[in-house]
Amino acid sequence: MSFPTHRPRRLRTTAAMRRLVAEVDLAPRHLILPAFIREGLAEPRPIDSMPGVVQHTADSLKRAAVEAVELGLGGLMLFGVPATRDATGSAGLDPEGVLNQAIADVRAEVGDEIVIMSDLCLDEFTDHGHCGVLDADGRVDNDATLEIYGKMGVAQARAGAHMVAPSGMMDGQVAVIRQALDAAGFEDTPVLAYAAKYASAFYGPFREAVDSQLSGDRRTYQMDASNRREAIHEVELDLEEGADLIMVKPAMSYLDILADVAAMSPVPVSAYQISGEYAMIEAAAGNGWIDRRSAITESVLSIRRAGADTVLTYWAAELAGWLKEGK
Ligand code: PBG
Repeated sequence: MSFPTHRPRRLRTTAAMRRLVAEVDLAPRHLILPAFIREGLAEPRPIDSMPGVVQHTADSLKRAAVEAVELGLGGLMLFGVPATRDATGSAGLDPEGVLNQAIADVRAEVGDEIVIMSDLCLDEFTDHGHCGVLDADGRVDNDATLEIYGKMGVAQARAGAHMVAPSGMMDGQVAVIRQALDAAGFEDTPVLAYAAKYASAFYGPFREAVDSQLSGDRRTYQMDASNRREAIHEVELDLEEGADLIMVKPAMSYLDILADVAAMSPVPVSAYQISGEYAMIEAAAGNGWIDRRSAITESVLSIRRAGADTVLTYWAAELAGWLKEGK
């Protein structure tokens, strides 16, 4: 009987040994907290399908932003839930609209202490729930939408966003937003492009989080789950158009895409651990089927290991708290 001479287990013998040889790690700066603000709320309102996540009031959002700074998070990604919606999503352009107002409030509260990012998309603001405006036949009109995205980007930068994040998957959106920002004097405002965003069933809970009006799906503009090569094409186009950072979304069912993108991207790569990913782990942990804290940590670490520089996750604050405790 011969025994192995190569023993990888030697490097796993103690926690200190494992820490020494860990290839990737997690730090608060890697984490971006998505946050929802809803117009006209008196109290923060829990989202049933995302236990622990709320729709914020203006005040509770400011407190969350201060906490995010104290925890050393990398950024905040703000989403607005307006009280009234229309066909073109005009509340998204209004400087007094819920999202632009929230950006301004948060910026006034925390200044440049954390990167304030804003979701640049129409779906929360349209009465039909699509990410763009519709043509006469009810289809999402790519080019008519671009014009609105350009204006929305400028409105968000003017409100105080440090970075805008177009998530609508319209072709050419990065170029149009870049041009509009430059023309308005926001040459230094970066664009975080949702480059490879897939039509996913795992967005389900988010639709509750933003009171989505959508009936149907987004398969004519978001990517098909079957496609891997196409993600590279989307990323290349966004880079050509001037994207400063790139996002892959969702994260956990798309780690192959994330690894491909991370291998070729010359700019920083983010991944979005979305609402359904959050809900699944919370549900299983709530039933006592998995250990909540280790499952959360492992899931976010796996996204970093696949190649994400930064991770958007609803656990950002809690996770950063654990990291701070040094556990
Ligand atoms: C669209 C948008 C969506 C999410 C972020 N931005 C929803 C969608 O495309 O249907 C989903 C985020 C999540 O599920 O956590 N503006």
